[in-house]
Amino acid sequence: MNIRKMTIGAVMVLAACATMTAENSPPVTLKQAYAGAFLIGTVMGKPPAREAEWHLLCRQFNSITAGNCLKPKPVHPAEDRYEFATADVVVKMAHEQGLVIQGHTLIWHSQCPDWFFRDGDKPAGRELVLKRMRDHIATVVGRYAGKIQGWDVVNEVIDSGKGYLRETKWLAAMGEDYIAEAFRAAHRADPRAKLYYNDFSIERPAKREKALRLIRELKSKGVPMDGIGIQGHWELDKIPYQDIEDAIIAFHKEGVDVAITELDLDVVPRRVTGAEVDARDAAGADPYPNGLPAAMLQRQADQYGKLFAIFYKHRDKISRVTIWGLHDGVSWLNTWPSKRTNHPLLWDRDLNPKPALAAVLAVPVAAAQRWGG
Ligand code: G3I
Repeated sequence: MNIRKMTIGAVMVLAACATMTAENSPPVTLKQAYAGAFLIGTVMGKPPAREAEWHLLCRQFNSITAGNCLKPKPVHPAEDRYEFATADVVVKMAHEQGLVIQGHTLIWHSQCPDWFFRDGDKPAGRELVLKRMRDHIATVVGRYAGKIQGWDVVNEVIDSGKGYLRETKWLAAMGEDYIAEAFRAAHRADPRAKLYYNDFSIERPAKREKALRLIRELKSKGVPMDGIGIQGHWELDKIPYQDIEDAIIAFHKEGVDVAITELDLDVVPRRVTGAEVDARDAAGADPYPNGLPAAMLQRQADQYGKLFAIFYKHRDKISRVTIWGLHDGVSWLNTWPSKRTNHPLLWDRDLNPKPALAAVLAVPVAAAQRWGG
């Protein structure tokens, strides 16, 4: 981190401290607390349902990830048809507010229509799939060039088991270099956009090694890849803190930017780890339909605080932390891996701040107090 960025950050944090002392209440918003450290984002797959949600988002965050609306299935349902209506509104709203917008996602095994891979009644060959990929990326990235500052170009292609790359239709049709081709196409469509590889569980040593291999391979070929997104779908009492810190350091050493891209903290015990969207747990429990007990809210707060302390410590390596949802009511964890009432985020369903918010806000303040002795 450069000196100017550090100085601005320290001033903001010290100002926050002063406010807290004066009012004796949570002093700052997330974006103020982390100004000069990293961007603070949330996901926005469509315009928020309530005006109050939009106000909360704009007050607290300085970045959004335009999520579901930009996935290939909703945005490009047929080869000759794009559906940009929702994405256009999301991007316009965020752009007008000066929010930094991340696009999610161009190449993913899930939410990708089958027409990409078919040629009549047989599988499409490499050249046809490559052409479709290039057209898709050129059209989608090109449409928002200058407005969407970064893209999750390739999502979740590392194998969670023993293999290197996940067996996908992209891999089957094009071979391993579909990843490099995707980054090149995105760079051509918007040379200013920051281009990311995004995945879950890549903080864990086994998957981390494969992510490092991927970064090195892409870099050695001169592929325009700028950063890596650690999704951050973690579970209460099971956060791999040391792995997370080690991964941030290891990715940074490879010369790429690090972002935490989809942070949430699941509180309902489950038998599926990570974020494998197709995983289901038919017998999943729903133990907290009427709210989370106070002791658990506090445990969640402590663990969010510990995580943000790691992120803050490594703010010279991290450009953005994005929380995967504004409030508990809109989290994907209410339906995955089974239907349940979940409480993984910083605000509850009524938009009341949870103890976790105070814990996250306290991290830079505590650091500033330490610097001040
Ligand atoms: O919009 C339709 C709606 O019209 C329809 O009535 C309804 C019926 O099921 O579905 C709605 O679409 C759903 C969409 O979310 C919007 O709510 C899809 O079914 C549902 O599959 C989709 O889930 C998303 C999931 O990715 C799959 O795309 C989650 O919201 C989203 O949070 C989740 O995000 C992923 C990241 O992209 C990648 N990393 C893992 C992460 C969590 O799974």
